[in-house]
Amino acid sequence: MKKLETREDIERLVNSFYAKVVKDETIGFFFKDVAKVDWDKHLPKMYSFWETILFGQMTYKGNPMGAHFPINEIQAMEQKHFERWLEMWRITIEENFAGENADMAISKSENIAKLMAFKMDLARRL
Ligand code: HEM
Repeated sequence: MKKLETREDIERLVNSFYAKVVKDETIGFFFKDVAKVDWDKHLPKMYSFWETILFGQMTYKGNPMGAHFPINEIQAMEQKHFERWLEMWRITIEENFAGENADMAISKSENIAKLMAFKMDLARRL
C-alpha cells in the first residue's frame, strides 16, 4: 500500500473523503444543506489543513474549531455525527494509504474530533 507523503496524496485522500461525505445519510446534510459548502473553497482549505498537520508545511491559516460553531448553532453536531466522520476518514485512509503518516492522519483526527465534540456540546449548554 502507498505511503501518504505528498500534497497530491493529500488531495486524493481529501477528495475521496468528501465524495463519500456528501453522499452519507448521517452527515452529508451538514455540508449540502446546513453550510451549503462551496467546494472550490473548502477542498483547498482542507488540503492545506492536513498538509500543515502531517508535513508541518504551515499553509493552513484558519480556525478549525471556530468554523464549526455557526454550523452547530443551526444543527447540533453530536457524538453520532463525529463517529461517522471519523469512521469515513479512517476507511478512506485505509483504502488508499498505509504507514506512519496514514496512522497519524487517523490519530490526529480522533484527537481533534474529541475536542471538537466537547466544544460543540459545551457551546450548546451555554
Ligand atoms: C460531524 C463532524 C463534522 C462536520 C459535520 C463538519 C462540517 C464542516 C463544515 C460544514 C465546514 C464548513 C465548510 C465551509 O462552509 O467552508 C467545515 C470546515 C472545516 N472542518 Fe469540519 N466538520 C466536522 C468535523 C471535522 C473534523 C473532525 C475536523 C478535523 C479533523 C474538521 C476540520 C475542518 C476544517 C479544517 C475546516 C475549515 C475551517 C476553515 O474555514 O478554515 N472538521 N466542517
